[in-house]
Amino acid sequence: MIDLTIHRQALDRNIQKARESGVVIPTFENMKHPETVPEPIRARLRGVGLWDVDPLNLFRITWKNEPMESGGLYRAVPNYIELPPALTGVPARIIALVGKWFPTGCHKVGASFGCLAPRLVTGQFDAGYHRAVWPSTGNYCRGGAFNSKLLGVRSVAILPAGMSRERFEWLSQIAGEVIATPGCESDVKEIFDKTHELRQGPDCMIFNQFEEMGNHLWHYQVTGSAIAEVFEAVKRPGDRLSGACFTSGSAGTIGCGDYLKEVYPGLKLAVGEALQCPTILENGFGDHRIEGIGDKRLTDGFATGPAVFEDGFALGIKAVDLLDHGGELLFRGGLADGEAVEFVDDGGTPVAQAVNNRFPGGTPQDV
Ligand SMILES: Cc1ncc(COP(=O)(O)O)c(C=O)c1O
Repeated sequence: MIDLTIHRQALDRNIQKARESGVVIPTFENMKHPETVPEPIRARLRGVGLWDVDPLNLFRITWKNEPMESGGLYRAVPNYIELPPALTGVPARIIALVGKWFPTGCHKVGASFGCLAPRLVTGQFDAGYHRAVWPSTGNYCRGGAFNSKLLGVRSVAILPAGMSRERFEWLSQIAGEVIATPGCESDVKEIFDKTHELRQGPDCMIFNQFEEMGNHLWHYQVTGSAIAEVFEAVKRPGDRLSGACFTSGSAGTIGCGDYLKEVYPGLKLAVGEALQCPTILENGFGDHRIEGIGDKRLTDGFATGPAVFEDGFALGIKAVDLLDHGGELLFRGGLADGEAVEFVDDGGTPVAQAVNNRFPGGTPQDV
């Protein structure tokens, strides 16, 4: 499904360029099990900040980073928080994976790596010639531009003009070029219209997360294994991994659901989306300000794949404008029917609560 045809000449050039800049590319195994990261690299990471533009930070594309701004190595168990029933109001154990300790502060840095790496190590992407184009509402293009910079690759970030000023300011330092398209976070089509224009240039290679299997694969491998490891670390005798919930844009993150269903066959999957732009539930209209998920578009694999529609379900969630709340609101109640919770950013936690409400038999042994 991922084209691994070798383009020999460009690959040789990529290897030469990587040697000259001291770039070492981690494997998925390194990301899942960072204890496999070679000792000399671990030693050098002690002197590198989490967001530094340093190729060593490719080795921090993992859920297991120590929660440190600088100099961190790895923890045995991926970063997570468990929300106590006093807070959630439900008996089931609700655990959220924490993406804050990825470079860029978001797991999409992994998804974008999953898309770029196969093209780079096959030579299909010629690092001395191509520009990597990252269309997204923000986090994926931030991750893509960051990885590109670490790998010495020119990049173009495309995102809606309505995204936060902070995103644009940061990207102006990291991406080779930043293009703002009309509209807000829900306006993904406008991003792709721009992409279509750029595709005419032979040096532009488009990494469209909605069609790149590397997006799904990275989450299947790395996020899937991270969730399983957290469950195995926290489970008590008799506990079950009963459900997993993801807010969805390109359906990459929920790709790890395919892995989880293989390992925990009884598990239910749910996908959450903003009621302000209900794409799965009502075909997409309106807009929101989560600074996370784009809308009005479904990945083919998402609509037809096993992950959600086999026996999962979609939830509408009332999103809260992150900026209106100074980024401090984590979530607010309103959980009576599990269909209207307010959240900031990823929203997986209230989605988890909503799932629990849909399964009223949830017990303290359901995780
Ligand atoms: C914080 C956050 N959560 C969730 C998502 C949705 O993930 P996916 O595109 O893999 O469905 C995104 C997408 O950019 C995101 O930035």
